[in-house]
Amino acid sequence: MQKFSWILNIILVLIIAIILYVFVIKGSVTPTEDGRSAIHITLDERTKILGDMRKFLEHVQAMVEAIGDEDMAKFSTAASGVGLIQEPAPPVALTAKLPLEFKTMGLETHKAFDELAALADSGASYQALASELSVIMSNCTYCHRSYRLEIDEE
Ligand code: HEC
Repeated sequence: MQKFSWILNIILVLIIAIILYVFVIKGSVTPTEDGRSAIHITLDERTKILGDMRKFLEHVQAMVEAIGDEDMAKFSTAASGVGLIQEPAPPVALTAKLPLEFKTMGLETHKAFDELAALADSGASYQALASELSVIMSNCTYCHRSYRLEIDEE
């Protein structure tokens, strides 16, 4: 009896590990011909993510413009506008499809913009802000090199 429950425990732990791997770590991904991983999501989910992406780019454009204009308030507003505080948590169904690295990098990028806004508010130089922005933008380029979005019909 004791041996039976021992085996049952191992089976349970294995099942939990598999569920965690599939829904938290791996996500719904397949390899592609261009070397990136395709994340399979619905049309609505893709529309939402791409909308967030265009918002990222618009805010980065405003930050670069603010550096050129030496306008610290404008820089801070542009950075905090894409911070984590502005970002509602994604729906559970989408979270399960995104690989852990993708989720982590998305979160870290939003968080980094909050820190960048705080840096601007603390009176950092425009040069320091530009260099910090370029570090954050390596997240953009890394993620674009690694992933693409594909629509799976329901
Ligand atoms: C966590 C990963 C990730 C991060 C971080 C990320 N992106 Fe993206 N982005 C993507 C993916 C995936 C696509 C879709 C690419 C595809 O399907 O070919 C995309 C698409 C885009 C698009 C195209 C939008 C459209 O309407 O087609 C823009 C613009 C963009 N990203 C800007 C940015 C900028 C700017 C940053 C950094 C501030 C950024 N992204 C950070 C993953 C990311």
